Amino acid sequence: MTVGGKTTTTADFIFSGCGRVYSADVHTVKAIYPGTFDPLTNGHLDLIARGSKIVDELVVAILRNSEKGMPLFTVPEREEMIREATQGFGNVSVTTFDGLLVDFARQQGAKAVLRGIRAISDYEYEFQMAMMNRKLDPELETLFMMPAEKYTYVSSRLIKGVFQLGGDVTALVPPLVVERLKAKVPKRVQG
Ligand code: PNS
Repeated sequence: MTVGGKTTTTADFIFSGCGRVYSADVHTVKAIYPGTFDPLTNGHLDLIARGSKIVDELVVAILRNSEKGMPLFTVPEREEMIREATQGFGNVSVTTFDGLLVDFARQQGAKAVLRGIRAISDYEYEFQMAMMNRKLDPELETLFMMPAEKYTYVSSRLIKGVFQLGGDVTALVPPLVVERLKAKVPKRVQG
């Protein structure tokens, strides 16, 4: 299509005003939402929902070589759960990575990293990570979003601990995660 003597494609935005027509390339923003997700919680899902409204493409990326000790779920199990729980989002994909997050983000062509901040206690760790990532790659931005208030105390670590001691976590993780927890954790201590 030719507008005002300028050839445009559907990948251009056209701004017109005062008799002038401008076109500009569309900026599609791809962001990575990295984490260990052992397992996915409703807090994570809430952040995915919020993030997917802000960016064009959101890649949930599970760290494969986490230093967080013995995980409850294998990486493929976590990947499967997240994939199932996020299938309703048209612009969310799920993958795994290891090594530096900045390298993975660059490989993916992502401009941003999405992270959640639940409480002030998260801030210091998140700030250090964001600054380190900025040092490693000044082009990569970190976006912080806050989950819904009702999930501010929810963490994968607490979910595992409570479930393993027989507590009810049904309001805090997707139903498919409850099922996986039941299958994974010995019957006598299940919630
Ligand atoms: O869910 P988590 O455990 O809080 O996620 C932490 C994660 C995966 C975002 C972080 O450990 C990470 O990015 N690791 C990859 C290694 C890396 O890039 N380290 C330097 C940045 S501090």
